Amino acid sequence: MKLEKLIGTALGNNKADLVIKNANIVDVFCGKITKGDVAVTDGVIVGIGEYSGENEYDAEGKYLMPGFIDAHVHIESSMVTPSEYSRLVIPKGVTSVVCDPHEIANVSGIDGIKFMMDDAKDAPLKFNFMLPSCVPATDFESSGAVIDAKDTKEFLEKYDFLGLAEMMNYPGLIYCDREVLEKVESSEIIDGHAPLLSGKELMAYAVTGIRTDHECSNVEEMNEKISLGMYAILRCGMHTKEFCEMVSGVDKNTVNRIAFCTDDKNAQYINETGTIQYCIQNAVNAGMDPIDAIKAATINPANCYGLKKLGAVAPGFKADLVLCENLVPDTIKAVWKDGVLVGKDGKDVYVTKKTANPEKVYNSVNIPDISADDLVCEFDKKTPVISVIPGSLVNKKVYKDSADGLTHLACIERHKASGNIGRCYVENYMFKNGAIASCIGHDSHNVTVAGDNKEDMLIAVNALGKSGGITVVSNGEVIGKLSLPVGGLMSDMPWEEVAKGHKEIEEAGKKVLVNAEIDPFMVLSFLPLPVIPELRLTDKGLFDVIDFKLL
Ligand SMILES: [Fe+2]
Repeated sequence: MKLEKLIGTALGNNKADLVIKNANIVDVFCGKITKGDVAVTDGVIVGIGEYSGENEYDAEGKYLMPGFIDAHVHIESSMVTPSEYSRLVIPKGVTSVVCDPHEIANVSGIDGIKFMMDDAKDAPLKFNFMLPSCVPATDFESSGAVIDAKDTKEFLEKYDFLGLAEMMNYPGLIYCDREVLEKVESSEIIDGHAPLLSGKELMAYAVTGIRTDHECSNVEEMNEKISLGMYAILRCGMHTKEFCEMVSGVDKNTVNRIAFCTDDKNAQYINETGTIQYCIQNAVNAGMDPIDAIKAATINPANCYGLKKLGAVAPGFKADLVLCENLVPDTIKAVWKDGVLVGKDGKDVYVTKKTANPEKVYNSVNIPDISADDLVCEFDKKTPVISVIPGSLVNKKVYKDSADGLTHLACIERHKASGNIGRCYVENYMFKNGAIASCIGHDSHNVTVAGDNKEDMLIAVNALGKSGGITVVSNGEVIGKLSLPVGGLMSDMPWEEVAKGHKEIEEAGKKVLVNAEIDPFMVLSFLPLPVIPELRLTDKGLFDVIDFKLL
């Protein structure tokens, strides 16, 4: 009966549930705008043209486009739970995400992933979960959980995953580590993560069926990957420089293999700038055709992930729709998910249900008693220093003659209280009489602390407590704290509170950090990540990403 009803409505024989009248409709297939009505029945678009409905909404000539799809996001990086993330991004036009619960998985394993899935299930935002492929990301750090090849197979069968999430362990894959290959063999849809991989090594990576990469940092790299049949998912998070450069290099041949993502973006920045809407705006500013930019936010990611009913305003597609004042989505007037109005004038207009139990992911910070001396090391000019590059996640490995102007950095294992502490020095990340500590430290999320003196560093670490979060200390006093009790990564509060709390610690951070060009928390959270070049610090010590070994 369902199909008969849809056919009858498409033919105009019966009234649709909802008709959005007088819209400028974005056609992502022909790259043009069509004027008319869009009819929706049972949450599905049935027709475009002239229709009447039980409910009618006058679009007044505004632009109606498909709901945006974030092609790759770690919800945990927003610092809010999935149900709150939905409330945050739905009014900004995002109706689906492909998400990788990799951060919580590294803290709490499958319990953490199940919490995310439970919390997401009643939200209108469609969360397409990918199963994290690299827990831990590498063997050179200590995580709170391990997901091996056997677990991977089991979880993919047992739970509702779209595919396998970003395969960061490209050395393991290229050198045919059996465990890594078995994971890749378990799934048809596999996300990639291979910064700067090229030539035969990239061939070896792509031959395994990995079809996406969201780590391109220049046009040449992007085109090489597209040429091998991959989708280049361009990240426009907090920093936009690389994104704009790559977008400028997209042409009519490559435009269908581009999608947009946010990857890691906190609630405050999402609130201030948006997510995928911000990608479209930046892409257009960088010279991309607006409809091409909308395609990269809708039909391209849908095609990439085989989400066959998403990404277009056309019959048979889900009625995930965004109504914007202009073609470039600056002001979003209304958002429908499956034909139901869920966002209006920047606000969520649906009832949020919260039934997930976070108990298993609380109190995740577990470190032994440490002293201030444990957090610092003697300077040795033969040991490399991490040089932070403002505005980039990539850093440089450098050698220095003295410790002048350098900052202490320590990474403390926080899952099993093993007492592991990595220590080193950092350049371009200067503090004045203070320290900051955080349990967000990609990807194992150990406690990372930076400062210009060991006493403040210790106070910052101790102020995290069992539940964790981010702390700022100045002259022996805690001047900022954001509590993140869900795995030490997310708050259990409404996103509005979290965005406000983040703004407050940002202000506190400015009081202790010298270089205003640096986002202190973002930089700190990526300093331990051993899969982005060139030099990182894990709880096991300094890690050379280029040579892929501990120093
Ligand atoms: Fe990612």
